[in-house]
Amino acid sequence: MSRLPVILAIGARLGLGATAATAQARDAVSAPRLAARRWFAEAKFGLFIHWGAYSQLGAGEWVMHNRKIAVADYEWLAATFNPTKFDAVAWVALAKRAGVRYITITSRHHDGFSMFKSAQTPYNIVDWTPFRRDPLRELADACHAAGIKLFFYYSQLDWHHPDYWPRGQTAWDNGRPDHGDWSRYLAFMNGQLTELLTRYGDVGGIWFDGMWDKPGAPWQLDSTYGLIHRLQPAALVIPNHHQPPRSGEDVQTFEQDLPGANTAGFNTTSVSGDLPLETSLTMNGSWGFNITDKDFKSVRALVGYLVRAAGNGANLLLNVGPRPDGTIGPEFTARLDSLGEWLSTYGTAIYGTRGGPVPPRSWGATTRRGDTVYVHVLDWLDPLLALPPLGSRVRSAYLLRRGAAVPVIETAVGVTLALPPASADEPDRVIVVVTSGVAAPNRQER
Ligand code: GLC
Repeated sequence: MSRLPVILAIGARLGLGATAATAQARDAVSAPRLAARRWFAEAKFGLFIHWGAYSQLGAGEWVMHNRKIAVADYEWLAATFNPTKFDAVAWVALAKRAGVRYITITSRHHDGFSMFKSAQTPYNIVDWTPFRRDPLRELADACHAAGIKLFFYYSQLDWHHPDYWPRGQTAWDNGRPDHGDWSRYLAFMNGQLTELLTRYGDVGGIWFDGMWDKPGAPWQLDSTYGLIHRLQPAALVIPNHHQPPRSGEDVQTFEQDLPGANTAGFNTTSVSGDLPLETSLTMNGSWGFNITDKDFKSVRALVGYLVRAAGNGANLLLNVGPRPDGTIGPEFTARLDSLGEWLSTYGTAIYGTRGGPVPPRSWGATTRRGDTVYVHVLDWLDPLLALPPLGSRVRSAYLLRRGAAVPVIETAVGVTLALPPASADEPDRVIVVVTSGVAAPNRQER
């Protein structure tokens, strides 16, 4: 018997109307998904990888659109892709050193070129290029061996497929016919998602992007999300549609912005009360490899972003754009190594935490695990820092780095900490505050 009649019957007994009971049924989330959400909320740090045929032009993953490249010319470009230096084990070793807990890689971007072997189209890296290898298989194997979860980015928008019709906001005349069959396109996508979820072992989830190209189209999300949850009950659906979450989705992700902020101009400011959160960030200003973009963020800025994400209860998904030969440039690797080094000392104040009792401020952020509050001081020069009450009494406070006790004055109006002087080699002064009780969570994923 399906679950719905049971829930409706229970709902009727509890005096709930059919609508309320149906909404509950729709939002029923299986135990494996709940456990996966909890894992995700505690993972805190992921590596985003944008890599595809576009990498060859060194101008980001939108180059096909930006330069108005015709389908036939791009098909030729894709046929020359031969990243012989790709080494999945080396990529995963870098991810491990950086301290990320998961990797999210582009399986197919807006250019429509599949970076995995697909029976749905010959326009894939194995059948279309001299490379002939399936990098996603190699990466999946290396991730599984290293205990890193692998998520697949999947673009719903497609600049190549003829059945992506009617076209969306980013369309230009690139030589495709002026007709197509939308239901065939959906079947193609679901076919590819089935491949991704049945051929690569356990997958962390699917990270969707590009629905914003045709927000009003009949995407039939319920059926696609249902397929994913059926094929892999612990796989999470993470949509980058820039809208508040819908049923069937597991994580709310924000692009180039902390949750609730909208400096990028396209994020929603409405933040889910109970789903895990994520924020994706470029290390320079580009997702895909961009040969002239040298505007790399400093390690201090990246630490600050990771801390502020955690203080908001969110993960940081930090991007690299590997080169067309399959290597990852030194600007990326150096920063990832430094972040890993930082996490080896300070990770305890990040991993497994939730947002702390004091919401992020201009001076920094707080995180929390059990009875412990971590006060992250990123940008504050005065010797004293005054906080509102933490929710339970302070028992002790000490510096995470060297363990020295931190003087505390606690009154009815709050907690004042005496800080060590700021130093150039410590981007985040972390004060560990042990309290007398487990503070009530300010958000709990469900
Ligand atoms: C945007 C871009 C896309 C990129 C993504 C990453 O949606 O269109 O190119 O992959 O952001 O968050």
